[in-house]
Amino acid sequence: MIEVSDAPGLDAAVMSSLERVRTFIDARLDAAIEMSADASPRLVDAMRYALLAPGKRLRPTLVLWAASACSSDGAGRSCEEAWEAAAPAALAVEMIHAYSLVHDDLPAMDDDDLRRGRPTCHRQFDEATAILCGDALQALAFEALAQGMPAATAARGCLVLARAAGGEALVGGQADDLAAERGWVSDLATAPAAEQVAWLERIHRRKTGALFIAALELGGLSVAARHDQLAMLAAFGRVFGLAFQIADDILDAEGTEAAVGKRVGKDVERGKLTFPSVIGLEASRERGHALAREAVGAVAGMGPEADDLARLAHWIIRRNH
Ligand code: IPE
Ligand code: IPE
Ligand code: MG
Ligand code: MG
Ligand code: MG
Repeated sequence: MIEVSDAPGLDAAVMSSLERVRTFIDARLDAAIEMSADASPRLVDAMRYALLAPGKRLRPTLVLWAASACSSDGAGRSCEEAWEAAAPAALAVEMIHAYSLVHDDLPAMDDDDLRRGRPTCHRQFDEATAILCGDALQALAFEALAQGMPAATAARGCLVLARAAGGEALVGGQADDLAAERGWVSDLATAPAAEQVAWLERIHRRKTGALFIAALELGGLSVAARHDQLAMLAAFGRVFGLAFQIADDILDAEGTEAAVGKRVGKDVERGKLTFPSVIGLEASRERGHALAREAVGAVAGMGPEADDLARLAHWIIRRNH
């Protein structure tokens, strides 16, 4: 099992593994966003701007690593073949993610002006273009998935992705994130901390966690993973997603703008319900590390093929961006 005794070594290993995925995925994202002359040039510019900006590519990474972890176990596929099979799903989840960021930053939502070290989409273009850009990226995600996969896998993949992106998951979580911030949930502000934490976990599980679980499941589906492999990936995703969002909340409280590429200190300013605001920074960090250890344990049964996933789980709570 991966331990964190050599933290700098672990960070370096994760950064170089992520770089390998970025090289693989960015070329394909660039090709996938080619549009015919029927798409408005300003819209296409905004889509390229949002999608190709330098994010961490965590979700496509999970798709590809889940696929390769499930393939090497006697399935007769090389890592390269697994990545090729999973590439349409990897593109699709990054498109959903990129759209969700564009909309999340809008004045009607988090009203942010910096994303991935650059002006947010509505700042660079305009609000209407940013809304349409998100709409088009969402549709393009399903197109990329459906046209790149065998029909039966595509149908199942679209179902998984639609559920993760929809009103019961990502969008539902975003809606309740705003509801909590704006005081639309009665008695939440005065509720005991345990109730606030439960409410917060429900938000995080949907607004962020669901797409991570879908990414892992889609990676597995792309290579026809066994049921037990899919179950281990889902268990990993559930705790990984929460650890990821706790780290995001911590970075907003104590990260630097230069490292995270977005404004910091906004959550407190807007009165967001976050882990640091409810249980404090130290307890948030401890909870994140405990979740990372749980995530590592969840994929221990997959053997060394899941080492990249395990390292990523430890890194996700230690990261500075
Ligand atoms: C940021 O996600 C938005 C959240 C869901 C909290 P990431 O931290 O993965 O953003 P990028 O893709 O690296 O920009
Ligand atoms: C965003 O959460 C979640 C989605 C985009 C679905 P946050 O609002 O915390 O993300 P950042 O901090 O702006 O990246
Ligand atoms: Mg938000
Ligand atoms: Mg935000
Ligand atoms: Mg945040």
